[in-house]
Amino acid sequence: KDKVTIHTLKRQKQSGQKICMVTAYDATFARVFDEAGADVLLVGDSLGMVVQGHDSTLPVTMDQMVYHSAAVVRGTKRALVVGDMPFMSYQVSVEEAVRNAGRLVAEGRVGAVKLEGGAEFADVISAITRASVPVMGHLGLTPQSVHKMGGYVVQGRDEDAARKILEDAIALERAGCFALVLEGVPLELARQVTQRLSIPTIGIGAGKYCDGQVLVCYDLLGMNPDFKPKFVKRYANLYGSMTEAAGAYFSEVRAGTFPDEEHSFKSKPIRLVASTP
Ligand code: KIV
Ligand code: NA
Repeated sequence: KDKVTIHTLKRQKQSGQKICMVTAYDATFARVFDEAGADVLLVGDSLGMVVQGHDSTLPVTMDQMVYHSAAVVRGTKRALVVGDMPFMSYQVSVEEAVRNAGRLVAEGRVGAVKLEGGAEFADVISAITRASVPVMGHLGLTPQSVHKMGGYVVQGRDEDAARKILEDAIALERAGCFALVLEGVPLELARQVTQRLSIPTIGIGAGKYCDGQVLVCYDLLGMNPDFKPKFVKRYANLYGSMTEAAGAYFSEVRAGTFPDEEHSFKSKPIRLVASTP
């Protein structure tokens, strides 16, 4: 099994072979998805919400992204690992952006970084790319812009907004992005962007015409019973399985039936006499 690179993904677009991407935040989940056949593992700043319990991705820091990225890379053999650039790690200046992207590669050991934004970040993307760090773009519903968007709402629904997203997508390809996440946009817009670009598009809440798909792993595994937006499909009910398993363990501990002989260590019969007077 050859390692996935940015070149593999470009070939997949050309041959029409869909790109499978999922988020991961630690080595154990990374190993599961890598062995299940993921092409790309995204260490998403969504970890601010699903791991840390915040109500947005804004509090996530560079140190935290480096820590989780390194863990995911250690659990991965084949997939390309992409690390998210967190809020304020690339917006202040081109210099800071390049330094922070470099940290994700040098310390987090990722093979590429992702950042949110359109044509206004073309200079940042070119500079990071020039430092030989591949950049994945991210357009549409961009969670770091939650206050500007006025909430987590579908983007590009009217013609002006849709044209702006298409133009931003073209600008990102020109700036050097190797792929582009389209989040929370109508499927017809995603179809046209995908057709227009030579780099692959990876959709989340963007319909079936994208070159690949990405989901937050806890969403597809059904680990949060209170979160079920329209674009999420649950492929398992791990919330149910995990509460059941934990409940069974607690019952056996309370009943004194765990640990039984099978789960205990044995020795020759011994009779201990304390040596202290
Ligand atoms: O942080 C994240 O999980 C993401 C994906 C949803 C694209 O950016
Ligand atoms: Na993200």
